[in-house]
Parts: sequence; C-alpha cells; structure tokens
Amino acid sequence: MGRVFREGVSEMKIEIEFKPIEKLKKKELDFMNVQRKREYGKSAMMNFRKEDKKAVFILVKDEGKVVAFGMLKPVKVEYKGKKYEILGMGRGLAIKKGREYGRLLQAARIYYMKKKDKTAVAFTDRSNLGFFEKVGFKTKRHLIKRFRYKNPKTGEIVIDNDGDGVYYEGKDKLVSKIIKGKGVAFTNADFW
Ligand SMILES: CC(C)(COP(=O)(O)OP(=O)(O)OC[C@H]1O[C@@H](n2cnc3c(N)ncnc32)[C@H](O)[C@@H]1OP(=O)(O)O)[C@@H](O)C(=O)NCCC(=O)NCCS
Repeated sequence: MGRVFREGVSEMKIEIEFKPIEKLKKKELDFMNVQRKREYGKSAMMNFRKEDKKAVFILVKDEGKVVAFGMLKPVKVEYKGKKYEILGMGRGLAIKKGREYGRLLQAARIYYMKKKDKTAVAFTDRSNLGFFEKVGFKTKRHLIKRFRYKNPKTGEIVIDNDGDGVYYEGKDKLVSKIIKGKGVAFTNADFW
C-alpha cells in the first residue's frame, strides 16, 4: 500500500547529516559509488577516502534513505602572494531528480559555509549553472581558467581550461577578488 497523505495526518521525515569522511561506513561509500556509476558510468567510481581527504560529506535522507549527497573539503589557495583556506564543493548528486533533494543538499552546504564563514567553490558544466543560481550560489563562466593546481609535492602545475565556476563567498571575498583582479590563483588540490 502506498503512503496516504491526508490533511493533518501526513508525516514526513527529512534528515541532513554532516559526516566527516572517516566516519562514513563502507556501506555508505559503496552506495555513493553505485549511484555515481548509475549517473555517469563505471569510470566515475572512485576512492573517496583517497580523493576527498578531510572532507565532510552531506547526506540528505528521506524516510531513512539517502536521496542526495555531496561533499565539502578544505582547499588551500594562494592568490597574489596571500594564502586562503576555502572549501571545495563536489560529488553533488540527487538520486531522484526534480523533488527538491538537490536544493536541500545545497541549502545544507550554505548552512555549513555560513557557520564556518568560508568561501566555497565548485567547477561544473554549463548545464548546471541555472540550478546553482536558483538555489543561492553565484556563478562565473570559465572561472576554472583563473585557477591552477600546483602539486604541493612536485611543484608541477596543472592547467584545466574547461569548466564554469559556482561559488558562495565568506568574508575573504576571494572569488570577487580573483574575478576583479589579474593573474591566476594556485590551489593545493587537483580540481575536485
Ligand atoms: C543538478 C541536480 C543536483 C539538481 O537536483 P534536483 O533534486 O533534481 O533539483 P531540485 O528538485 O532541488 O530543483 C531545484 C530547482 O532547480 C531547478 N533545476 C534543476 N536542475 C536544473 C538545471 N540543470 N538547470 C536549471 N534549473 C534546474 C528545478 O527546476 C527547481 O526549480 P524551481 O525552483 O523553479 O522549482 C541533479 O539534477 C543531479 O544530481 N544531477 C547530476 C549530478 C550533477 O550534475 N550534480 C551537480 C554538479 S556537482
């Protein structure tokens, strides 16, 4: 029998969990990989513990089941000789589309970023910009061109010219500074 919604008697349970990567269970990591495979294909399956060190994962649950997830991880940025600590956003996925789960996930991210007063940045495809604008982020086409990944161990610099930016600023106003200014910003994390 399906769920019955009548005025006054319907119940809903939405939960949002912020879990540091080391607290995620194998079952949860496997679940995220299965969903990535379903969305993007097998090559998108990944080792979260290796790629997303120190990340906080956000799990949106509806009636106890994960319906959307995403992460935020610390990224160091150097711009014009000054050092910044921001959050890299990634892995965002709503398992069923068009049910507000994506918006709930992004609202949880904004809640977290405001609490920490941190700037957060994601790089994504043009097709996602409308969504991010609707749910409270700013966007900038080709923002990735203003960033370089500098491998902290080898000093090697990686250029990726294909990606638009999505961001939410804290008091450092870093992205506005980069957009208004000249030159590139160096990150200590490969584009996430
Ligand atoms: C992008 C994504 C997270 C959206 O999640 P969703 O749960 O389907 O979106 P919601 O139901 O919360 O939609 C919120 C609003 O955004 C709109 N929206 C959703 N996707 C959109 C898109 N690609 N472009 C423009 N608007 C979009 C919805 O119509 C809705 O608008 P409304 O306020 O007018 O009703 C989801 O489609 C997804 O997981 N895509 C694959 C993975 C991905 O691309 N992730 C994001 C990049 S990391």
